[in-house]
Amino acid sequence: MTGKKRQAIMLVDDNQANLNIGKNMLKDRYEVYALPSAERLFKFLETVKPDLILLDIAMPGMSGFDVIRILKADARQADIPVIFLTAKSEEMNELEGLTLGAVDYVTKPFSAAILSRRIENHLLIEKQRAELKSLNESLIGMVKEKADQLTGLQSSVINIIAELVEFRDVITGGHIYRTQKYVESLLNRLMDKGVYSDEILAWENMDYIVPSTQLHDLGKIFISDRILNKPGKLTEEEFQIMKTHAEKGAEAIRRMAKTGGERLFLKYAEIAAISHHEKWDGSGYPYGLKGQGIPLIGRLMAIADVYDALTQIRSYREPMPRQEAAKTIYDGSGRHFDPALIEAFEDAEEEFALTAKGGVS
Ligand SMILES: [Fe+2]
Repeated sequence: MTGKKRQAIMLVDDNQANLNIGKNMLKDRYEVYALPSAERLFKFLETVKPDLILLDIAMPGMSGFDVIRILKADARQADIPVIFLTAKSEEMNELEGLTLGAVDYVTKPFSAAILSRRIENHLLIEKQRAELKSLNESLIGMVKEKADQLTGLQSSVINIIAELVEFRDVITGGHIYRTQKYVESLLNRLMDKGVYSDEILAWENMDYIVPSTQLHDLGKIFISDRILNKPGKLTEEEFQIMKTHAEKGAEAIRRMAKTGGERLFLKYAEIAAISHHEKWDGSGYPYGLKGQGIPLIGRLMAIADVYDALTQIRSYREPMPRQEAAKTIYDGSGRHFDPALIEAFEDAEEEFALTAKGGVS
């Protein structure tokens, strides 16, 4: 005897002689439960799940057909293979039994060789079925893992693109990281207070919102170094060119979306790119959108973008002190910025200051 657990077979028959014969035939190889009625079977099934059931059809009380109907309707027991034991005279019932889900028939009186072989076959089939099922489950797991890897790859490509933009625009080192933190701080306040919950709920995937803002300045790739990194103020003409970065960025993101990529993520990124320079009073660009006509992502990004510009060092000036930067943002309420978001900013100002200093909030 090996240490391996023996497989369990339940033999159900109202005829004691059959039970004894069957048990004697099988007991050397299997753990055999010889049960004289359907009721006894169900009693045992409460505590033991057999590998196979040998089931008499004609029994007083519940018949074999009644039993199999109950077994197949119960998810915990539906996968146990059932072989019907049938007397010669019951052969006409075979089709009904098979239709009800039995895997096979064995005719009584049993021959030890045939009974063993049939049982062996069906235990093997069941083993293979279980293996196939677990293989299938692990395949599903592998596919999911691959999909996650792909998503990871996409987001690392996006990070690199965002970094390239940032790298060219030398005055804004860390800008993308910080503006994401600012948007996140504002969003947390909005959600705490239930402000703009309709717009927030309309986002199909909340997890993409903050990272999608990374690409808001993608269009700067198309702006020449001379303008992008000009020390000091831009001329009117240069500023007009600089302004095109919003539309050019959105256009580039649309092209990325066409060639594949995460559709929803890129949709949010496009919105951030096109709308982050719009102003609440309609004086922004590129479309001069007004109030809530500006997408929430753009309204959030506007505060993050300006706050970062104020608090970071520029080649032509020192960073603005915390109080002054906050005051400049407050002063923009209702003109540059959404007043409801300025309230959220007021609550999050300390977090903003910490992020600006390079701390972790
Ligand atoms: Fe911008």
